Amino acid sequence: MLHDVEAVVLVGGRGTRLRPLTLSAPKPMLPMAGVPFLAHLLSRIRAAGVRHVVLGTSYLAETFSDHFGDGEALGLDISYVVEDRPLGTGGGIRNVAKYLSSENVLVFNGDVLCGTDLGAVVDTHRRTEADVTLHLVRVRDPRAYGCVPTDADGQVLEFLEKTADPPTDQINAGCYVFRRSVIESIPQGRPVSVERETFPGLLAAGARVSGHVDNAYWRDMGTPADLVHGSADLVRGIAPSDALPGPTGESLLLDGAKVADSALVFGGTTVGRGARIGGGARVEGATLFDGAVVGEGAVIEHAVIGAGARVDEGAVVSESVVGDRAVVGEYCELRGGMRIWPDVVLPPRGVRFSPDV
Ligand code: GDD
Ligand code: MG
Repeated sequence: MLHDVEAVVLVGGRGTRLRPLTLSAPKPMLPMAGVPFLAHLLSRIRAAGVRHVVLGTSYLAETFSDHFGDGEALGLDISYVVEDRPLGTGGGIRNVAKYLSSENVLVFNGDVLCGTDLGAVVDTHRRTEADVTLHLVRVRDPRAYGCVPTDADGQVLEFLEKTADPPTDQINAGCYVFRRSVIESIPQGRPVSVERETFPGLLAAGARVSGHVDNAYWRDMGTPADLVHGSADLVRGIAPSDALPGPTGESLLLDGAKVADSALVFGGTTVGRGARIGGGARVEGATLFDGAVVGEGAVIEHAVIGAGARVDEGAVVSESVVGDRAVVGEYCELRGGMRIWPDVVLPPRGVRFSPDV
């Protein structure tokens, strides 16, 4: 158990790829399987034995402390540090150094859903006497991530952030163990990218940077597609979490949710508090925020329906996002990455993909 390790979670990003959902909430606070995404990550940190967690916040900073308070409900002691202007990932880590006292510190990107054994990552760090250890995973398309080749002993050779032609499919999973002294060596008071400046700089200076590779469940929550698939994996128990507010299964119905008997709700769908699904509707792998309403015969597939939003009778919303309180009129059809901004009202049959209505 990691009783002697503290954790830092970086949650200061603006989550632009998740707009319009992130206009009103920072990405780590978006509901996933009934609780803010960050609650799942914090539950994993707590389960590993860590108690003190520092959140490095910037965008909509107060939403974190409003929700999690001192952390006691989660068995944690949470400190909050606010960056008046975003300091980047490295600057954000440096900025919280004065709140830390353990020799080794776990650092997390606050938007990664992951099942890795954190104790094993720290073991690799200690066994290899590393300055920094990076958790690494293999993905099908590494171009959107930090590509991290290692040698036969697991030592990191290079750190190539978002490169067009990555030399390996092994990427930075967004979880690090830092020696605290290394955190203190990051320049203070200006934006620093840990990926573009700190890691390449450490490697150039001959620091010992270890890689810990495993094939744990892993997903970055950067896009709406990641959000709905990650959420469905949590509901179905494919992604591990101690924060799920109900049993795992094909769907998770939160307090006051109502689903008509003839509706089909499956694939890891979350039906938010007070949300309603009408007769004959088909809802697959979707996330319905609180108070969302799905009309009779509507089809929702791998989509997010915002708080208080309405999808009327016969409408189709597939792989799209409907903002809070928006209305998708009867027999509208949204497909393939559409984003409806909050409060927008689409009239009946007003937006179609197919020519036949
Ligand atoms: N405090 C603070 N300040 N946090 C920040 C800032 C900042 O200025 N900028 C970003 N963050 C936080 C975000 O909130 C997020 O939790 C985390 O840092 C990573 O930022 P993203 O914007 O999600 O980065 P990414 O997904 O494109 O890439 C990063 O994650 C990948 C794995 O998910 C990089 O670390 C890649 O190397 C990595 O592969
Ligand atoms: Mg990310």
